[in-house]
Amino acid sequence: MERFCLTKRDVFRVNEDTWIVSFEETIDFLPGQFLMVETPKLVRKPFALGYWGGHLAISVQIKGVGTSWIVHESKRLKAHGPLGNGFVKPGKGALLISPTCVTMAWAFKKFMDVDVIVGSRTPVLLDLGFETVVGDEAFLEKLREVSRKDYDWYLVAGSRSMEKVCWEELKGKREVYFSLEEYMACGIGACKSCATLTNFGIKHVCTDGPVFRGEDLCWS
Ligand code: FES
Repeated sequence: MERFCLTKRDVFRVNEDTWIVSFEETIDFLPGQFLMVETPKLVRKPFALGYWGGHLAISVQIKGVGTSWIVHESKRLKAHGPLGNGFVKPGKGALLISPTCVTMAWAFKKFMDVDVIVGSRTPVLLDLGFETVVGDEAFLEKLREVSRKDYDWYLVAGSRSMEKVCWEELKGKREVYFSLEEYMACGIGACKSCATLTNFGIKHVCTDGPVFRGEDLCWS
């Protein structure tokens, strides 16, 4: 884990509330790993590491002043990472993701054989380079179609409601994984804010994850 500064290169709007931020610098990481970015009030926020247009990039959903500052005002960002465990699997995989994971999906593409489906609640304003469906109904239909195909593994990365819908459809499959998006304050196992209950007791998303098997998670 290193501390470093990232220089913003470009910002692209993905949909109503999500942007891609790319950087001049590059760092080594594995798909699934993330970094913590510092905001002006010293609050740190986690973002999955990825690529856009061949450059290091993160996807940022604007939820408040910190994320708005990252997208609209910052020029250089203080960060530390890469954090969490990387995820690299053989075989053919399917990624079911929200727009907040588009840059992460490009990192998966670089290392693995994956088909990527993006499900967005609002219209997408950018060609993401992946199959993209808009609206809950369209996503459900696509999910059923994907579940009928014989992928070696599936990975879901999105909201809690998206995770639940995907688990209902995919839980009979051999290998189904979820990249959890819990609140995180430190990213290094010190604050316990990302604790999540699993079938093996409490786990910390930042150090034990962020990717977990679906059958290990508590769904009730
Ligand atoms: S974010 Fe602090 S322990 Fe996981």
